[in-house]
Amino acid sequence: MDSKALLIWCSSLLLVLQPHFTSGQTSVVKGVYWFYDSGFAASSINSPLFTHLLCAFADLDPNTSQVTISSSNQAPFRAFTETVQLKNPSIKTLLSIGGGGSSSSDFASMASQSSSRKSFIDSSINLARSYNFHGLDLDWEFPPNSTVMANFGTLLNEWRAAVDSEYSSNTSSPKLLLTAAVYYSSIHDGVSYPVQDIANSLDWINVMAYDFYGPGWSEVTGPPAALYNPGNQVSGDSGITAWLQAGLSAKKIVLGLPFYGRAWRLADANNHGLFAATTGAAELNDGAPGYRQIREFISENSATTTTVYNETVVTDYLYSGTTWIGYDDTQSISSKVSYVKTKGLLGYFAWQVGADFNDILSTQAFEAWGA
Ligand SMILES: *[C@@H]1O[C@H](CO)[C@@H](O)[C@H](O)[C@H]1NC(C)=O
Ligand SMILES: *[C@@H]1O[C@H](CO)[C@@H](O)[C@H](O)[C@H]1NC(C)=O
Ligand SMILES: *[C@@H]1O[C@H](CO)[C@@H](O)[C@H](O)[C@H]1NC(C)=O
Ligand SMILES: *[C@@H]1O[C@H](CO)[C@@H](O)[C@H](O)[C@H]1NC(C)=O
Repeated sequence: MDSKALLIWCSSLLLVLQPHFTSGQTSVVKGVYWFYDSGFAASSINSPLFTHLLCAFADLDPNTSQVTISSSNQAPFRAFTETVQLKNPSIKTLLSIGGGGSSSSDFASMASQSSSRKSFIDSSINLARSYNFHGLDLDWEFPPNSTVMANFGTLLNEWRAAVDSEYSSNTSSPKLLLTAAVYYSSIHDGVSYPVQDIANSLDWINVMAYDFYGPGWSEVTGPPAALYNPGNQVSGDSGITAWLQAGLSAKKIVLGLPFYGRAWRLADANNHGLFAATTGAAELNDGAPGYRQIREFISENSATTTTVYNETVVTDYLYSGTTWIGYDDTQSISSKVSYVKTKGLLGYFAWQVGADFNDILSTQAFEAWGA
């Protein structure tokens, strides 16, 4: 073969191979959840800053085991994909099912029987297609014991088989993506996730590496989403390490970033570091202020507020009188996105886009990722 023929042969080979490389595998996730009850319209999302948007939440009907969308959410959810694609035609959307407010035991009961799993799976695929989502995300917090974890694994395997078979029976739309929001570590309350089933079935997991400390469950101030936590097991890095050690590929792991903080009332205004004594939650949004609210607090109390970035832990915090808030500001977000790249993870996601302030954190994450 002369060089010109070789060149033509190579380019035609590329043409043949390219669709196989570009379809299927997701190469990066810059994701964010949109929550219907956040007061932030889907049309306000600056979608060029993201590759994936997760629309929260669809519900599990415990009586039928079907996935449903509440009547007030039907119109906004149906319009979601088209709306966010106006600013970013290539963005992918996923319908997220469940959420922190849903009943874990309803999911356990659905996952325990083959017939109810089938209702769940079939209805989820129908909803995703009829509402024009590109995928489905399961946010079950959390399968509580090893029996339920095993059923969770069975559910994922059957869901994967159904998604593959739906695709092969009608290849006119890309295959649905399948993800789950999971605990920060591969072990929850001493119970292990079915890592092999997750590896076989899911495109990736969304690791909720936040809520480590909060006024409801910590009597001292703490870094709510510490990346590192010297002398303590609870941190994003320890959780990611546990997932990797359990055998999950880094390319299936997406690190969660909080666009909100946790706010305490200090016991003593002069003792204002990490792990300082408190008397409970500060009155800001029940102790869980969004980033926008934190920025407003800082501007309203600028004379008395001190902000601190602790680069060992990778957390921001502030104090003002007896108010203490731990949160992720731009430096924490940047460091975490660098961590994601260094570890070779698939990407990051945040909860939730409506809590950002002028796209500051979303932009920081996007820019920290780089080209
Ligand atoms: C399930 O059935 C019970 C008993 O019939 C009923 O009270 C409840 O509203 C139903 N739940 C849903 C989500 O439809
Ligand atoms: C596991 O959790 C399920 C759902 O909450 C419960 O019904 C079941 O009894 C539990 N099993 C064990 C062995 O604790
Ligand atoms: C195949 O999928 C397309 C797009 O989702 C849909 O419009 C069409 O009705 C489907 N065809 C069948 C036979 O299900
Ligand atoms: C950051 O926090 C850690 C853990 O509390 C502490 O040991 C360290 O001194 C802090 N770093 C700075 C610069 O304050």
